[in-house]
Amino acid sequence: MGDVREFDVVIWGASGFTGRLVAEYYLAQYGASGELRWAMAGRNEAKLKAVQKEIGAEGVPLILADSHDRASLDAMVARTRTILTTVGPYAQYGDELLAACVAGRAHYCDLSGEPNWMRRTIDQHHEAARDNGVCIVHCCGFDSIPSDMGVYYLQQQAKAKKGEFCKHIKYRLIGMSGGFSGGTLASLDGTMAEAKADPDVRRMLLHPYGLNPRDAMDGPDGRDQQSVVYDEDAGQWTSPFIMALINTRVVRRSNALADFAYGKDFRYDESVLTGDGIAGRAKGMAAALSVGVLMLDPKKSLLRRTIDKFLPDPGEGPSREKREAGFFAIRLIGLFADGTKMEAKVKGDRDPGYGSTSKMLGESAVCLALDGDKLPGPCGVLTPSTAMGEALLERLQQNAGLRFELG
Ligand SMILES: NC(=O)c1ccc[n+]([C@@H]2O[C@H](COP(=O)([O-])OP(=O)(O)OC[C@H]3O[C@@H](n4cnc5c(N)ncnc54)[C@H](OP(=O)(O)O)[C@@H]3O)[C@@H](O)[C@H]2O)c1
Repeated sequence: MGDVREFDVVIWGASGFTGRLVAEYYLAQYGASGELRWAMAGRNEAKLKAVQKEIGAEGVPLILADSHDRASLDAMVARTRTILTTVGPYAQYGDELLAACVAGRAHYCDLSGEPNWMRRTIDQHHEAARDNGVCIVHCCGFDSIPSDMGVYYLQQQAKAKKGEFCKHIKYRLIGMSGGFSGGTLASLDGTMAEAKADPDVRRMLLHPYGLNPRDAMDGPDGRDQQSVVYDEDAGQWTSPFIMALINTRVVRRSNALADFAYGKDFRYDESVLTGDGIAGRAKGMAAALSVGVLMLDPKKSLLRRTIDKFLPDPGEGPSREKREAGFFAIRLIGLFADGTKMEAKVKGDRDPGYGSTSKMLGESAVCLALDGDKLPGPCGVLTPSTAMGEALLERLQQNAGLRFELG
């Protein structure tokens, strides 16, 4: 983006739980008036001012913009190189902002975990965004940066060390701690409700290549894992992973956007490691059951309503202590055509849903705003790895507490 704008990044949604965490991260990492020129935005001035005061960001400019007021969105977009948005659910609040970014030539990143909405934004905006030199990047949090950038990392290592890409990569969650995000649950519920009401949405949601370009929606992968399965390569039992629904589609879109660099026969799947022996299998069955409960309709299921009482609402999340004590660890098992393996680990130093997510999203926006000459290009509705590649990998490791390592 060659034009000179007042800001590098505007955080829209800075009065919310996650937006505030990104603002706190920028304050700590970049300062209020340092090299990064950033602003906090939202619809409610009093709330924004209160957050500004609470986190000690008095020197940071404020911008008012409401999702129902397109003129206010256009005016905000015109002032910045990149918009970072935490105003969700995105299917509800995101359309006008996204259109404003494409028209107003500002890059965009979000935390959408809403595949049906992302399908719509791809269909509506991919070509115009590409023509306008605008990168639209969904899924810049725990879903789906560790998956997408982890596969990117392992494939670069495979190419460098063995001279070829892995034909199959398995994402196996070793563990995570820090609690579920209320916002993510709200988005999941919204996605499920849309899928129930509309068979096309349901088909898209179940389609393993549902986010690929329309003319490249086939490949060897089938449905996400539904039951407890023993994985010989991992040497453990595995259970379904709720975020596979979005992460696997993002990774497959990355391969398709890169002209199938890993091959049209590249396979990718995700699940959770639950240990070996009878105990590992039993743990897997319990985990599978809890995923099933989360998929239940919160309006119709008594069990889900009862469990919801113990889960966070949108806008709620773990305390600072819980975030700082949190972590995630993922094992990526890469299989080559000759049957040999290469493994990598992806680790985060905060809870996945908020502490790590806010740093991943924050660094994605800075990368889009400041690393222009290092971005792979061309633009469009992209994925984290196809939009930012090596530049993001570097930032995540240097600043965001993520580790990508072989072994
Ligand atoms: N993928 C991940 O890993 C992950 C993790 C965390 C969150 N998320 C997603 O991030 C989003 C935000 O989550 P959160 O927990 O931070 O939610 P939140 O605390 O409820 O914050 C929502 C923000 O949106 C603003 N907003 C609502 N309606 C608006 C409108 N009409 N115009 C402008 N701003 C409006 C709110 O402003 P007011 O303060 O004025 O109400 C608030 O700043 C959700 O979609 C969630 O799914 C994803």
